[in-house]
Amino acid sequence: MKSTIDNTEYNLTEQYKVNHKESYAAWLQYKKIDDAALVKEYQKWASNIESLADSIVIQSAQNELNTALSLMLDIQPKISSDIKPVNSIVLASMKELNLLDKLDVDFDQINEDGYMIKTVTSDENSTIYLLGKRDAGVLYAAFHLLRLMQNREKLDHLNIVESPKNQLRMINQWDNMDGSIERGYAGKSIFYKDDVFSEELNRIQDYARLLSSVGINAISINNVNVHQVETNLITSSLLPKVTEVASIFRAYGIKTFLSINYASTIQLGDLDTADPLDPEVKEWWKNKAKEIYRFIPDFGGFLVKADSEHRPGPFTYNRNHADGANMLAEALEPFGGLVIWRCFVYNCLQDWRDRSTDRARAAYDHFKPLDGQFHENVILQIKNGPMDFQVREAVSPLFGAMPQTNQMMEFQVTQEYTGQQRHLCYLVPQWKEILDFDTYANGEGSPVKQVVDGSMFPYRYSGIAAVSNIGNDYNWTGHTLAQANLYGFGRLTWNPDLEAETITNEWIGQTFGQDELVNEQISQMLLKSWEIYEHYTSPLGVGWMVNPHYHYGPNVDGYEYSVWGTYHFADCHGIGVDRTVQTGTGYTAQYFKENTEMYESLDTCPDELLLFFHHVPYTHKLKSGVTVIQHIYNTHFEGVQEAEELKERWTTLKDRINSERYEDILNRLEEQVSHSKEWRDIINTYFYRKSGIADEQNRKIY
Ligand code: GCU
Repeated sequence: MKSTIDNTEYNLTEQYKVNHKESYAAWLQYKKIDDAALVKEYQKWASNIESLADSIVIQSAQNELNTALSLMLDIQPKISSDIKPVNSIVLASMKELNLLDKLDVDFDQINEDGYMIKTVTSDENSTIYLLGKRDAGVLYAAFHLLRLMQNREKLDHLNIVESPKNQLRMINQWDNMDGSIERGYAGKSIFYKDDVFSEELNRIQDYARLLSSVGINAISINNVNVHQVETNLITSSLLPKVTEVASIFRAYGIKTFLSINYASTIQLGDLDTADPLDPEVKEWWKNKAKEIYRFIPDFGGFLVKADSEHRPGPFTYNRNHADGANMLAEALEPFGGLVIWRCFVYNCLQDWRDRSTDRARAAYDHFKPLDGQFHENVILQIKNGPMDFQVREAVSPLFGAMPQTNQMMEFQVTQEYTGQQRHLCYLVPQWKEILDFDTYANGEGSPVKQVVDGSMFPYRYSGIAAVSNIGNDYNWTGHTLAQANLYGFGRLTWNPDLEAETITNEWIGQTFGQDELVNEQISQMLLKSWEIYEHYTSPLGVGWMVNPHYHYGPNVDGYEYSVWGTYHFADCHGIGVDRTVQTGTGYTAQYFKENTEMYESLDTCPDELLLFFHHVPYTHKLKSGVTVIQHIYNTHFEGVQEAEELKERWTTLKDRINSERYEDILNRLEEQVSHSKEWRDIINTYFYRKSGIADEQNRKIY
């Protein structure tokens, strides 16, 4: 194997940190506090860090506090393991409770990853306790405390009790070992380069800090499309490197998973079949699991994309997905490992004109009949919508439809169809809408968030995963404001009930400091950006309309898997996909009755999803009172104007943001404005030509 030791490159990160300090630090800025009174107050606790526990995770907490407090308060905290706290911050997990004198806390209030933060003040001293059931909770508590300090909150009466709502809070890297990232828009992989592991371990550690600070506890470190070289990740040639990466994440309470090639038995040259019911195949995976756990005793498990977009899977052997997943689950079960099996299974070569094979139906049609057949350590990972992370699509009807099978959500933080981190598109409002969607699985009041947090059905495992948006760009995410999507994903996954505004303000305060105008302007920009992006791109839930393969830029008939004709069925009379039971693909029947009825009827189908569910004439009147064609024109003109307003808002902050971040963001916003015009003109012209109907306001359509 080629040597990966390259010190110049290793140092590059250090240089990055110096040259691009603020962009790189993201929301862990720890800027010096200039309010003297507050510094004095904070110092009361921050001068002493007392750690009763001793583990690598606690050490991470201690290190983070040490770094942050030194930077913010200009002090050097004294770190000790005293058990007599005096004016200090004390770190302890439940197992050290007996060492804490008369501290009145109830660990039953929190779950495994939960924590409490408590300020206890007496005549002689004041102590802030960071208490977790396990060490990871203590680390989360430390990050919470630092978040409060970065947002200049008072600490003298803290009594915080926090438990994550979701058990698995996961990030999926789509990184390839050649250093490229599938759907990556922020440079190259921080994990790999030229088919070997990167030696820039400190960059991976900084990533672990960012993830852990928002409560992420699991990561799969390679693309779901597993090529030949990544197939080797589960072999003894690469497992030592995986082990190294896993130990970095472990120190931040994050478990490492690998995406595997379903056909590894063949691909690695050991067998000539991958049939899940073949005894040799089963045995092979059992031995493989043993080998992996010898390297990484707390290995998380496998993430699997099978029988989708040319990936191998159990269908080749006339087996179903339960057969495939269970075979792997049996191998991992003795070690407590999980199989995360993706439901993104559809025939990408299908003829869109054939109404009986509607792609939106695929996941439900494949998986629903298998409910109850999966092993306990299998979780089905379902994309938020039945298609593919469009700017707007319906919520997947699979959520709630499999009460006897563990389910988890898959979001996409990387902005594949939402502007590729060149356009601003803050996705927290979209995710909230999806999580709040009422499935009616258990009658009214059965939101998706209660399916995926495991509270609706007795799931053993569940949670939320998302495709990462980071790369080795100095600001991690290409568009600096896209850092908010990663932050927001973590916070929302921790607690889906948090308001979008709360998350947004937290992020801005930590990232840009306490300047009211900065806060106000950025928060407005972020919170409106999804809607703005939707305005000048695909209308009314119809989706796609992007350049093939690349998925950036307008192309009304462009999407690669629509070679059979347009998937939106636009002709001179109308547009939209009829997914009704009455006259269409029958997709609406996959929902619970209340939703089926809502979507089935033109009267009750919400405007924003009209073309996702119905084919209508251009003159069809929306609930808003305008016709479909006029809506298309209006929103596309509005969208451009709104994109311009985003830029104008930003320019009001010129002297309030450091110049690197200011210019970076300005450049992206300028591109967004000009690109939004391209979108407007292409979409409007297309529909003007198709429909022959003029804009009521006689605006110029190119
Ligand atoms: C989309 C995306 C692919 C990705 C796939 C998946 O189709 O364009 O790049 O591999 O989703 O989620 O597996």
